[in-house]
Amino acid sequence: ACSSIIDASINGGDSKFNYKDPIKRSDFPPGFLFGAATSAYQVEGAYLEDGKSFSNWDEFCHSKGCGENGENGDVADDHYTLFMEDIEMMHSLGLNAYRFSICWSRILPKGRFGEVNPLGIMFYSKIIDNLILKGIDPFVTLHHNDFPQELEDKYGSWLDPQMQDDFVHFAETCFKSFGDRVKYWITINEPNLVSEFAYERGDYPPNRCSPPFGDCLSGNSDVEPLYVMHNMLLAHGKAAKLYHDNFQPKQGGLIGLVAHCFMYEPLTDSYLDIKAAERAMLFNVGWSFDPPIFGDYPLEMREYHGNELPRFSPEETELMKKSIDFIGINHYSAIYAKDCIYSSCAESANRAIKGFVELTAERDGVLIGDPTSMPRFFVVPRGMEEIVNYVKTRYNNTPMFVTENGYSSPNVQNVQVEEIVNDYKRVEFHQTYLASLTKAIRNGADVRGYFAWSLMDNYEWTHGFNLRFGLHYVDRETFERIPKLSALWYQQFLKNDSLVD
Ligand code: NOJ
Repeated sequence: ACSSIIDASINGGDSKFNYKDPIKRSDFPPGFLFGAATSAYQVEGAYLEDGKSFSNWDEFCHSKGCGENGENGDVADDHYTLFMEDIEMMHSLGLNAYRFSICWSRILPKGRFGEVNPLGIMFYSKIIDNLILKGIDPFVTLHHNDFPQELEDKYGSWLDPQMQDDFVHFAETCFKSFGDRVKYWITINEPNLVSEFAYERGDYPPNRCSPPFGDCLSGNSDVEPLYVMHNMLLAHGKAAKLYHDNFQPKQGGLIGLVAHCFMYEPLTDSYLDIKAAERAMLFNVGWSFDPPIFGDYPLEMREYHGNELPRFSPEETELMKKSIDFIGINHYSAIYAKDCIYSSCAESANRAIKGFVELTAERDGVLIGDPTSMPRFFVVPRGMEEIVNYVKTRYNNTPMFVTENGYSSPNVQNVQVEEIVNDYKRVEFHQTYLASLTKAIRNGADVRGYFAWSLMDNYEWTHGFNLRFGLHYVDRETFERIPKLSALWYQQFLKNDSLVD
């Protein structure tokens, strides 16, 4: 039933497409990577299989019940069992790259205090070998939210500089085991978001925050996120140096860092709001990429945080500088920024960590774009061109990849499968965002790839399975993957056809 609906839509029988900017694969540079992305905790399941230890997310979800309906990633999409079928699915889409993450607690169940788990190595080796057999480049994230719980229990994970040593040990293990075949490495996914969500808002493990945020363990949300980010950035810098010095010369790959990159636009044309939008960019994108490119945080951050903002020693600055070969942009949405220094704002917004900026989606009663089921994510295709241009200008056109971009359809409870797979809004989302991306590329931005989030519906952190970002629908009982209209659109697009010719 699903595929006939899709056929009908694709063949124009029930066409709901309304693209102003039809695009083709040939609008992108030759060799451009077109992929889809996932992360270990969100798809693998098998949470205690073959020697894997409890991760911070296993612990959090088991003790707290973390999805909206108390769901967790114990089973997720059972990708641990179904990975061969999933690789076949990528192949039939025509992807030439696949972004996934390595589950740290599968490889080093006790961190640097224990042995490497050979079964963990074997699992990822099989994935990598089979991807390559199908002509799909593995694009590997080392740290995507999950790590061995032991590191939290022993010393408090990212709050402690020891975590840098653990991360470097993990990275080295992966470079040694997979670096002969993996040519794209991402050290850490969205450290800027993780520091905020885990240590300011208390939404992610270890669930730390302080007033005005509630329902969390007591922390110091004014400074902890800054230290967590600092440790993550140094961990990145040290792992990248190791790769550049000892592995890259022989293995010849690239290493980068990925940040959560919203585009911030001023709420009004006032000078104050224009400045607020600039700060929002600096306290987010600059916070993430200034250190690994220039060797220090943006000056404006020092101005507002003073001594609370950790410092890099001269040796660390040297280590950090130019520690990335590419910038990974996770982009979903644009949002308005309002000044909170001279204007009054909600207490939770008016904080140094955000540069005293309040984010809002509404201007004069009009939303910035169509809402999605993800709070704070709106459909604003122009944001893609804007963010890429911003990064291009600030970082002198360092090579970029759009490492995530995707659409979460409205909550699916009580909705028929047919309706979910007929996801013409997701098709329109990818089409219009890609069209916007081509504008930046035509203007000279060195963007080398694009990854749809996600290959399939999966476990969306605190939202559980309620939010579906996938190009494929995943049946929660049978784990069957059903291509949505968006998967078929992507497939056709990659064959260099356009649905609206
Ligand atoms: C960013 C994260 O990397 C990914 O894990 C998450 O599922 C998507 N954004 C959607 O929120």
